[in-house]
Amino acid sequence: MTGETSTHFPQRKDSPASRFSSRLPGFYELGISQRREIIQDLAQIDPKQSENFGDFSTLNAELVNVFIENGIGTMALPLGVATNFHINGQDILVPMAVEETSVVAAASHGAKLARLGGGFTSSSTPPIGTGQIQLYPTEDVDYDSILTEYTSELIAHAHDGQQRLLARGGGVRGIRWRFIDAIQSLVIYVDIDTRDAMGANLINTICEKLSKRVSELIPCEMGLRILTNLCDKRMARAQCRVPKEALSNQEFTGPEVVDRIVQAYLFAAHDVYRATTHNKGVMNGIDPVVIATGNDWRAVEAGAHAYACRSGVYQPMTKWRKNADGDLEGDIELPMAVGTVGGVTTLHPTAQAAIKLLGSPNAQALAEIIVTVGLAQNLSALRALASEGIQRGHMSLHQGNILLAQREKH
Ligand code: MEV
Repeated sequence: MTGETSTHFPQRKDSPASRFSSRLPGFYELGISQRREIIQDLAQIDPKQSENFGDFSTLNAELVNVFIENGIGTMALPLGVATNFHINGQDILVPMAVEETSVVAAASHGAKLARLGGGFTSSSTPPIGTGQIQLYPTEDVDYDSILTEYTSELIAHAHDGQQRLLARGGGVRGIRWRFIDAIQSLVIYVDIDTRDAMGANLINTICEKLSKRVSELIPCEMGLRILTNLCDKRMARAQCRVPKEALSNQEFTGPEVVDRIVQAYLFAAHDVYRATTHNKGVMNGIDPVVIATGNDWRAVEAGAHAYACRSGVYQPMTKWRKNADGDLEGDIELPMAVGTVGGVTTLHPTAQAAIKLLGSPNAQALAEIIVTVGLAQNLSALRALASEGIQRGHMSLHQGNILLAQREKH
């Protein structure tokens, strides 16, 4: 993949990320305020900003009105911290906003297993999103020659007025096109490096602007102008190794669990019903981090599932195998359109605190952290499913929900 790099998470002078360990034994037994004090100290978060983790009136009426129409309030989600993550040599504490019991515990457990094998390694491509300009030519022109001749002019036109994007190192990276015979439509793809912004508005703005110039060059009826959520030029990957000994339990030896996890993966690779649930488990890890950081989880979901289906057959988003030493190895690769500046990420106080907790990563590093959590989540689910089953751990954690529901009834 062009320009793919392995991100070394922010080691800025003021970043505490390199100075703390994400191993926090007993963290789960503490009270909320104690937990908050601990992560506040570790990540050197200002106590005032740290209040935004648990101030239930954080998203005030003004912000609600800025974010959406017809706002009447807020819908709160629990916010937790997944521990044990060690990615590209650094420990990271991961904020997760999610309502489902056992998700945060499972992510932390998956990260603990991977940690025994040296932690996760991750990499990503530059943050290049893609927009589509769709048109119906009304005359028989040689659009290949026209677009080839005018590519540089179109790129310059797109950049006009985008000085801030250019100054940040972003901009249009290429223009390509294809003709869809079935609907007699030409589609122009505009690849844009949006740097640390998710960039949906930027991409849509550029596509609408370019479409006007395109319609002067190619007589046409204009179709749609919008980004694609299948942003397969904006990829993030992660991998890990789990020593076989770490996987043994009362019922199975470590090597047996390795084999059973690989079989579980193969089941998903050959059965779309299982692949769907396998991937739901991956998204259990991904969505909560996307939500906690103020990013668009519908965009991430759409891109992830479409990418899982790129061969025409819906496939698991992670792969698991046994290596030459008999240890378990796994990886994940997904399009990941997330930002660390702009939009809700900048405006939502909790998202700001979550970004800070992560060590203020740039968009690429955040994308890598997010897919890593998806891999850890899947590892934890498969380990349980392939040995004692999911319900033992899930139900013991779910017990609190049941008791509360009973109390509410009476
Ligand atoms: C439950 O939210 C997720 C799992 O079903 C995932 C899986 O089956 O791999 C446990």
